[in-house]
Amino acid sequence: MTSDRTPRGKGSEVHGIFQKIAGYYDRMNFVMTLGRHEKWCREVAARVAPTTGGQLLDLATGTGVIALEAARKYPAATVTGVDFSEEMLSRAMAKPGADAVRWRHADAACLPFEKESFDGITEGYLLRNVEDLDGVLREQYRVLKPGGRIVILETCPPGGPMKLIVKWGMRIIVPLLGQVVARDRSSYTYLESSTLAFESPQNIADILSGLDFKDIGWRKKFFGTNFILWATKPG
Ligand SMILES: C[S@@+](CC[C@H](N)C(=O)[O-])C[C@H]1O[C@@H](n2cnc3c(N)ncnc32)[C@H](O)[C@@H]1O
Repeated sequence: MTSDRTPRGKGSEVHGIFQKIAGYYDRMNFVMTLGRHEKWCREVAARVAPTTGGQLLDLATGTGVIALEAARKYPAATVTGVDFSEEMLSRAMAKPGADAVRWRHADAACLPFEKESFDGITEGYLLRNVEDLDGVLREQYRVLKPGGRIVILETCPPGGPMKLIVKWGMRIIVPLLGQVVARDRSSYTYLESSTLAFESPQNIADILSGLDFKDIGWRKKFFGTNFILWATKPG
């Protein structure tokens, strides 16, 4: 693993939370999504579809679920997994197949890569954690090659007729699960509040469109609480 800079501002708080929850992150994710997270990660890896032998970047790789799936699915590609939490990265690096991925400690707000370095970018649950959403997406546009695709997995603020039920369900269930499964209610209270305060896929699509991304689409998952969104940088 190579290293870059230390986070500041909101990044420092988020960094602290992920350092703390790294040991039980996968277990909590499994419980909270009733086992669906891995399936969504497979869909993210499938949708990025790089050209053979291409360069793939998985941002906020965490325990590496998307990066490892991409390395398995595209053996001819070079997969780089980036995260600013050393603890999360060390869990990723201990998993079977980890040698097939290049792990890099870096902040998504300031990527240590040349412009147009990657054929595809994936990311799971990065955006709601960042201070400068537009800046982080602009940075991805910069390092993506023309014709390259980004695929984003994110939590979605509840909407529609189920809005109140889902909202109150999340308010009660997520911190409770944090307490029972991980014995850490406060970190999962952050997760619940950052989800409810986050942007809709339409708003993310508007920002991407403003950055000149094309062919933008998304699908909501799990009662509208998560979404997978994709977009292409014009060739
Ligand atoms: C909820 S986890 C998601 C991990 C993985 N993508 C998944 O789907 O399981 C979010 C990850 O984003 C990382 N992260 C948050 N802000 C970041 C930033 N500015 N730069 C790099 N990593 C960041 C955290 O350290 C954490 O590992």
